[in-house]
Amino acid sequence: MNRAPLIFLGIFFALAFSWTGIVLTNHLSYAKLQPVFDETEGKAFPQKLPGNAERGKEVYRDLGCVYCHTQQVRQPGYGTDIERGWGERGSVARDYIHEKRVYLGSMRTGPDLRNVGARFVGDAGRDWHIQHFYDPQITSKGSIMPPFRFLFETRSIVGEASPRAVQAKLPAQYQPPAGHEIVLTQRGEDLISYLLALKDPALYPEEAARVYVPKPESAEKKTESAHPEAAK
Ligand code: HEC
Repeated sequence: MNRAPLIFLGIFFALAFSWTGIVLTNHLSYAKLQPVFDETEGKAFPQKLPGNAERGKEVYRDLGCVYCHTQQVRQPGYGTDIERGWGERGSVARDYIHEKRVYLGSMRTGPDLRNVGARFVGDAGRDWHIQHFYDPQITSKGSIMPPFRFLFETRSIVGEASPRAVQAKLPAQYQPPAGHEIVLTQRGEDLISYLLALKDPALYPEEAARVYVPKPESAEKKTESAHPEAAK
């Protein structure tokens, strides 16, 4: 007996079924997500990353930061991310709509970085990242994060010292020999721009309704205890 058609149909339906489940249903629920226009701010959120931060995201990918850091804050009830200060709310699908590649990550050897731009801000934040990349022990004693010193260049000063020299921010043991300076490379600049920009906005109205409606535990209990009364 020729079973080829049956085998073909079996394989066809198995593939069609998984394609519908994995690709189509996700496409239908997430592909229509749009930015939300905020009247008070006069901007649509989430916003796109500025160009240098977008380049920094490639450096982030290239250096494998994703092996130790996640970019997804878990919803209350699924972990202690919010108590740890990794965000004011859990991440939702809309946060990622502008991203061609999303570095959610799966290992948390270090903190979640989805809102790192809210923790290290402006010039002080930039200086912190410079010290941390040069040697994590400067800012975080005992850290197991490796130094990323190749994001810096030690070079001899030709003419005037560069306004971008960073050695003044580093401790004594890292000072370059006389006549030399340490500058952050373009990749280092871009990576720090990315970290400073990495921050999710306040929650969008639709998700606010979905994510933050308090679980009606107390209400349920009340109705439960109210029911027997009502039944009597
Ligand atoms: C081997 C694992 C590992 C890798 C790889 C790694 N990190 Fe880390 N990172 C850590 C650990 C552990 C900490 C917490 C201690 C500290 O502050 O150094 C941390 C902390 C941080 C912090 C401070 C976060 C906070 O809120 O305190 C930033 C920013 C950061 N890492 C960025 C990066 C970037 C960018 C890369 C890639 C260039 C990277 N890390 C690669 C392990 C890692």
